[in-house]
Amino acid sequence: MPIRIAVLVSGHSRGSNMQAIIDACRRGEIDGQVVLVIGTRSEAPALQRARESRVHTRVISPRNLSEEEYAQRLLHALEEAKVDLVCLAGYMRLLPAAVVQAYAGRVMNIHPALLPLFGGKGMYGERVHQAVLETGMKVSGCTVHFVDEQYDTGPIIVQRCVPVEEEDTWETLAARVLVQEHQAYVQAVKLFAEGRLRIEGRRVRILPPKS
Ligand code: GAR
Repeated sequence: MPIRIAVLVSGHSRGSNMQAIIDACRRGEIDGQVVLVIGTRSEAPALQRARESRVHTRVISPRNLSEEEYAQRLLHALEEAKVDLVCLAGYMRLLPAAVVQAYAGRVMNIHPALLPLFGGKGMYGERVHQAVLETGMKVSGCTVHFVDEQYDTGPIIVQRCVPVEEEDTWETLAARVLVQEHQAYVQAVKLFAEGRLRIEGRRVRILPPKS
């Protein structure tokens, strides 16, 4: 059975990682289907993109809601859509603990750096790449990881590296990392759909293909 995937995005998400997952499902590279995209604001470019790709979208805004109410609305939407896997893609909030617990081992996130470096609250987009440049790193990259109840600390599934070039600005570095993000996220979701990811403490073991 193809897995049923939901993607969660924030208000300013472009939706390029979401699109990479949708496209890989449609190509048959991932044995799955993106059945729902949930955004925090209706004007999010990612939601617009999802609509253009004819994927079902919902807006669930955490504004004026308690953490518990927000969690309940997310859970209701995910359960109604019979979701197997939740992919955060440019989702800039901490996912409510009730959702993490209900979908333990079934929520992934992508981060534009080599975790555990350059992660944590407030570390997203430009700030991440600026920090990499300021630190003088010679490599950067991206990380797909399972989500736990804190920012960017869950077990790592896939990482990909890129060089930091002498002339890099945060924009050129971000663009180089983004190419790898799309591939890394598709790879991680594909492995999940194939039942090949096993969480063992802090590590994720990648099992051989089933014959
Ligand atoms: C991506 O670069 C992703 O790694 C980053 O937001 C961007 C979303 O782009 N996420 C974080 O920084 C999370 N801390 P997209 O909307 O084009 O996929």
